[in-house]
Amino acid sequence: MKAGFIGCGKMGSALIQGVLAAKICEPKDVQVYDSAVEAAEILGTESGIRVAAGNRELVANSDVILLCVKPEDALHALAEAGRELEGKLLISIAAGITIASLQEAAGAGCRVVRVMPNTAALVQKGATAYAAGAGVSGKDIAVVEQIFTSVGRAFEVNEALLDAVTGLSGSGPAYVYLFVEALSDGGVQMGLPRDLALKLAVQTVAGAAEMLTETMMHPAVLREMVTSPAGTTIAGLAEMERGRLRSTVMDAVKAATLRARELGGGDEGA
Ligand SMILES: NC(=O)c1ccc[n+]([C@@H]2O[C@H](COP(=O)([O-])OP(=O)(O)OC[C@H]3O[C@@H](n4cnc5c(N)ncnc54)[C@H](OP(=O)(O)O)[C@@H]3O)[C@@H](O)[C@H]2O)c1
Repeated sequence: MKAGFIGCGKMGSALIQGVLAAKICEPKDVQVYDSAVEAAEILGTESGIRVAAGNRELVANSDVILLCVKPEDALHALAEAGRELEGKLLISIAAGITIASLQEAAGAGCRVVRVMPNTAALVQKGATAYAAGAGVSGKDIAVVEQIFTSVGRAFEVNEALLDAVTGLSGSGPAYVYLFVEALSDGGVQMGLPRDLALKLAVQTVAGAAEMLTETMMHPAVLREMVTSPAGTTIAGLAEMERGRLRSTVMDAVKAATLRARELGGGDEGA
């Protein structure tokens, strides 16, 4: 498979690294074009991938195109590729750009998949959801799965759910960072040195996430297992319930989902 990356900023370069590390493609079969030419050339030299002279050349020499530019640049980048997109698989990670807009820009003969990854793809722990457009085959879906499982986990959804995905896993790392800060500040308030409090908070969140992944148990079951009657944990949890932590987090996902819908133009497909 020949893969072409339009844009090699934060997400594009993380995906290129994932694809190469998982040996989905040989470096010689991966091409990149970025309008920040120097960034593409450095990446090319470091990883052995080819650097195209422009988007038209890149698309002409690729079977699968990953569109990894900012949403406001996405349709322009496709226009630069022109009719070369005919018969190709286009995978876009541009937030909020609908399959319908991508299809219109890429032409009816292009197979389009819209993807919402998250920033943890940079450390191969990404949470990704994707939606396929008309004419996308099972083989195309397998390619999408292969690429995004190389940087974490991937799930297929209906496009109408992608705004909610944005509100949950797209924005989710920031919610967790805020929680870690709060956990750490709580320790500082009770006398722990700041650097120790932060290290303990980070490791606690990482450990809890690992427990959930490894045991595949429901979080409520794991929580009950560590909450003894009249103990310390129930005292802490009671305070969280009083502060409406649960409904605040639910409202945060709702607010981010509605904002994603707004940015996507209120289109139900966005
Ligand atoms: N970062 C995240 O956590 C995250 C999460 C989910 C989805 N996404 C999506 O991922 C996409 C990329 O985000 P990012 O953070 O990786 O952006 P980024 O770091 O800004 O990288 C985008 C790169 O594309 C280049 N570019 C702009 N127009 C181009 C064109 N016509 N042809 C080729 N290259 C072009 C930019 O160059 P210039 O600087 O010269 O413009 C830049 O180097 C966005 O659409 C975003 O919605 C990101």
